[in-house]
Amino acid sequence: MRIFLAPMEGVVDHHMRNIISSVGGVDICVTEFIRVTDHVLPNKIFKKACPELDENSETPALYRGAHCPVRVQLLGSNPSALAANAARAAELGAVAIDLNFGCPAKTVNRHKGGACLLDETDTVFDIVNAVRKATPASTPVTAKIRLGYLNRDSYLRNAKAIEAAGANELCVHARSKTDGYQPPAYWHYIGDIRDNLSIPVVANGEIWSLEDFKRCAEQSKCSDFMLGRGLLAKPDLALEIKQYMAGEAFNPLSWDEVCAHVRTLFERNCQSYPPKYLGNRVKQWLFYLQRQYSEAAELFEAIKRERDEQALRRALGF
Ligand SMILES: Cc1cc2nc3c(=O)[nH]c(=O)nc-3n(C[C@H](O)[C@H](O)[C@H](O)COP(=O)(O)O)c2cc1C
Repeated sequence: MRIFLAPMEGVVDHHMRNIISSVGGVDICVTEFIRVTDHVLPNKIFKKACPELDENSETPALYRGAHCPVRVQLLGSNPSALAANAARAAELGAVAIDLNFGCPAKTVNRHKGGACLLDETDTVFDIVNAVRKATPASTPVTAKIRLGYLNRDSYLRNAKAIEAAGANELCVHARSKTDGYQPPAYWHYIGDIRDNLSIPVVANGEIWSLEDFKRCAEQSKCSDFMLGRGLLAKPDLALEIKQYMAGEAFNPLSWDEVCAHVRTLFERNCQSYPPKYLGNRVKQWLFYLQRQYSEAAELFEAIKRERDEQALRRALGF
């Protein structure tokens, strides 16, 4: 069984990947999407989204975690441009190329990227086919879809097209674009896909707890899972799942341990982002953490409008 840390634009950057994977239980990470239009992007764009390219394309191993390979995710609708950028990412050392067919953002969809392509199965095929042909056979090409654009109706034809185009793996977020991020997730549709495909299928959506994981595993019939918001809310959720599967005892992280990770994120962000963005990603993380830790809710309330570095430091307990 493999557990993926979901790509999350604006939240899961290399620092977050490092911290979450270091807690343990995560096997694979995926970058925030890199938007491709019609030309090959400069190397610095790939390195910004995936600084791990210079570190063997893996997260550093800390604490209980292992090195996690990091896949580079591309988003766009132009098959030849995506193919050329995938080839460039592979040259730079990407361990796999992931293609985003799930983003619901209006601006992205307006430019024919993300989930709207689910209504254009031929384009989905052409993209995967072009990317597969342009990248070395040793570099897996994977795709991430939703169940459909307006309705949950195109998942099987898109999944089959993605497999036929040569993808090595498919991740399915078990909702349509219209469903957004609202519960529930419709895991049983992933089971349908799994029954019809030979490539590995990764189940994604709405896994917040061990109990959710068990129900998702049963309904999706998958043995690989991608966790997004649930892993941000409960950074040891992947570890809990892995230890449950291994029949091992699980000791949840205390708030003090989690807060130490939050402080680490803040320190690293101070070095990586301009002052005007200071605290943004920490606030985003606290927003998710408050679901699990009441202390995070208090801290989030205290700093949500704060921008001053010294005030943020004091609130975070430096
Ligand atoms: C803030 C945010 C940013 C996201 N960014 C991306 C992205 O860059 N690429 C992608 O494929 N999915 C993205 N997603 C979708 C997640 O990867 C995942 O499919 C979704 O959150 C459902 O999983 P979850 O219920 O475990 O969070 C994003 C989701 C959120 C909430």
